[in-house]
Amino acid sequence: PDSYCVMGNPVAHSRSPWIHARFAALTDQALQYDRCLAPLDGFATALAGFAAAGGQGCNITVPFKLEAAQAAARQSPRVALAGAANTLARQSDGSWYADNTDGLGLVADITRNAGVALAGKDILLIGAGGAAAGVLGPLLEQSPRRIVVCNRTAAKAEALVAQHAELAARQNVVLQAQAQQALDGDFDVVINGTAASLQGAGVPVPATVLRPGSLAYDMMYGPAAAAFLDWAALHGATGRDGLGMLVEQAAESFALWRGVRPPSALVLAELRALLA
Ligand code: ATR
Repeated sequence: PDSYCVMGNPVAHSRSPWIHARFAALTDQALQYDRCLAPLDGFATALAGFAAAGGQGCNITVPFKLEAAQAAARQSPRVALAGAANTLARQSDGSWYADNTDGLGLVADITRNAGVALAGKDILLIGAGGAAAGVLGPLLEQSPRRIVVCNRTAAKAEALVAQHAELAARQNVVLQAQAQQALDGDFDVVINGTAASLQGAGVPVPATVLRPGSLAYDMMYGPAAAAFLDWAALHGATGRDGLGMLVEQAAESFALWRGVRPPSALVLAELRALLA
């Protein structure tokens, strides 16, 4: 069967093999999907080895998303904008095509699974690292009213906003960078794309950004999302973790590779039950 993998470091706890195995079973696709631990300084070599062994596609996780974008002969417009790729697909000439499905996965989970439309809404995106960069383009494409990006290191938020200014103008979205201490107003949707919880730090914005009924979304799941979800509940917001984003980004990758859309909502429900 065609061979796929998730490449990262670490990769032992990745749920991607389980998710893609379920997608394959439910769509009758014969494929193999493994974990591939690449050395921190050996991504290019690991990728070349996977290609030489006949690998057809991979998901890329921390810390190789920037290198994956570089390694590809062709990039989707999303990758060009974000500078990061989470999906590689083999082209007929043997070279790699890079895409980034993280933002599509986030948007699909918010709009379809959580049932919250983003058009016309006010969105706060916290963080300006790789995770935040990967989702800003697809968020803009939903034509919200306004997106504010805020980050501990303000210059990175400003750079991310500058990079997306043209797309924002085309979509008619007000796109701004704001300092954490100077956040102006409240938001319909607050998205945490920082790694603050992994450092044991608190939620890096004041609770004034929430209004009753706001959606407070953490791109992480499991224990790493707990502090943010507690904070959301304490302030009357609806919390949601990133498990649905994980499943939906996988579904977008699977559709790119196989030309078949897997039943992602079903697999998300199964995964939630498994982890409960
Ligand atoms: P990732 O690929 O997960 O986005 P990253 O590129 O290292 O990883 O970005 C991590 C993000 O979490 C950044 O926005 C970072 O803020 P800085 O740009 O100021 O470094 C944010 N972050 C990490 N630790 C944090 C903390 N303790 N408080 C607030 N923000 C934090």
